[in-house]
Amino acid sequence: MKSRTCNMESCPLHGGRPVWGAGSSSPICMLIGEAPGPDEDTYGTPFCGKSGQELTMYLKQFTKVSRERCYITNLVKCRPPNNRDPHVDEIAACEDYLTIEIAEKNPSVIGTVGRVATQWLLEIKVTMERVHGIPFRWDGVIGKSIIVPLYHPAYGLHSPRQMRDVIEDFTALGRVIRGQLKPRANNDIEPDYKLEEE
Ligand code: URA
Repeated sequence: MKSRTCNMESCPLHGGRPVWGAGSSSPICMLIGEAPGPDEDTYGTPFCGKSGQELTMYLKQFTKVSRERCYITNLVKCRPPNNRDPHVDEIAACEDYLTIEIAEKNPSVIGTVGRVATQWLLEIKVTMERVHGIPFRWDGVIGKSIIVPLYHPAYGLHSPRQMRDVIEDFTALGRVIRGQLKPRANNDIEPDYKLEEE
C-alpha cells in the first residue's frame, strides 16, 4: 500500500498525506488503530510516535511478539484535524483501503487498538470496559478471524491501574495468537444502550 496516493476525493480528510499500513506481509496478527497522529503524519508510518513506542513495548513484553511480525494500520489513513477522533463518514470513506489490507493479509488475529477501531470492527456501540481483552469470532473479509479489543497504549500512561488493563489486554492477545484463549461469538455482546442513543 506504501506508494499509493489516495483517490477518495469525497472524504472530508482528502488532501492530507495518507499514512498507509506497514509491517509483515504474512503477519501473525494485524493491529488496527484509529488514525495517524502528528508523528505518524510527519514520518508516514503508523504508530511511530509515543503511543507507537508504548505499543512496540507491550507487544514485545506482554504479547511476546515483535512488532516486525505484525501488520499495523489505522481505520483512516489521513490525520484528522486537532487530533480528534475520526468521524463515521471519514471511516466509511476510507474503509475500502482497510478491506483491501485485511483481504491481502488475511490475519487470523486482529487487535483493535482503542474504542473507535473496536466499535467499528465489531459494529457495536460498547464501552472498552466491557470488551477489552476478550477475543471474539469475526467473519472477516475473506476468512474467519478473531478480534481482540485492546485499550489504546496511551490509556496506560494515565495511572498504574490503567496500565494494568493494557498489560492484561496485550497478554490476552498473545494467548489468543498461541491458541491458549478461545474466542466467543460476537453476537454475545449486548450493545451499551446509553451509547446507542448518541
Ligand atoms: N494512535 C492511533 O490510533 N494510530 C496511530 O497511528 C498513532 C496513534
